[in-house]
Amino acid sequence: MKDLHFVHLTDLHIVHAGATDDHLFSDTASTLEGVKSAIALLEPRPSFVVISGDLTNRGIKENFLELKRLLSDFELPVLLSLGNHDTRDGFYEFVLEDSSRTNQPYFYSQVIEGLHIIVLDSSTPNKVHGTIEPEQFTWLEQELQAHPELPKIVVVHHPTAPMHLPIFNSINFDPADAQKLEKMLEGKNVIGVLSGHVHFDQVSVRGGVPYFIGTGLHNQTDVLEPDGLRALSGASWNLCYVRDNALNVVKVPLPSDQTELHRITQAWMDNYRSELAAKEKEAQAVTA
Ligand SMILES: [Fe+2]
Ligand SMILES: [Fe+2]
Repeated sequence: MKDLHFVHLTDLHIVHAGATDDHLFSDTASTLEGVKSAIALLEPRPSFVVISGDLTNRGIKENFLELKRLLSDFELPVLLSLGNHDTRDGFYEFVLEDSSRTNQPYFYSQVIEGLHIIVLDSSTPNKVHGTIEPEQFTWLEQELQAHPELPKIVVVHHPTAPMHLPIFNSINFDPADAQKLEKMLEGKNVIGVLSGHVHFDQVSVRGGVPYFIGTGLHNQTDVLEPDGLRALSGASWNLCYVRDNALNVVKVPLPSDQTELHRITQAWMDNYRSELAAKEKEAQAVTA
């Protein structure tokens, strides 16, 4: 394939104007507007934009309508994927305007200028962690055989790689699904897997495949905080270019004073998870 470049955005966490949202820690709509302005100045023009999930902060109608408005004047193809903050139903109804696909995973592929882009849906309804349904794995297996000669990128919200911060062990990919996905991608001409979710940058090479995680546009995780999760102000996006059939990823950081925006300790998280598990058990007992 010939050389090309494109943009990787992630974790937009868009809310609508005037929203009261106690889990929104920065003005994500204005951050996206700023990033769009920077992208508009890029020469030569990127071939497309991929956005690896957490498009909205709550996955509600008003969030999705605002997302749609903000993306409507992108003069480039935009490939969207879903994250745990999104809802499949809301996305289908308010972004794609197709409510016939209720609750189905949103996965697809596209070939742009000789690059085979495979978009997966690792969101799991009402859960934070990522999974891939059997039907999606079956589709992926076939898709990987479809254009064996074309270099491929895979877009998926949750990272499969292990994390150095323990809090992410419970909210990343289901380990069995992560392992299965990585095995499937080995030796299939995949030149990069693009993810988000953890709000910091990480590069891993697993089974000969490079995995890139972007910080995204909401906030940045303090990567030196070992107890729980400390969110700092800061955001970045990635300028990606393919040369000689290999993917190069350049981080474009936005200015930041790294103010603390939010913090939860590991103990708080453990308590929250056990309360949630107890509630689920209770609900199951009622419906049984
Ligand atoms: Fe996120
Ligand atoms: Fe996420």
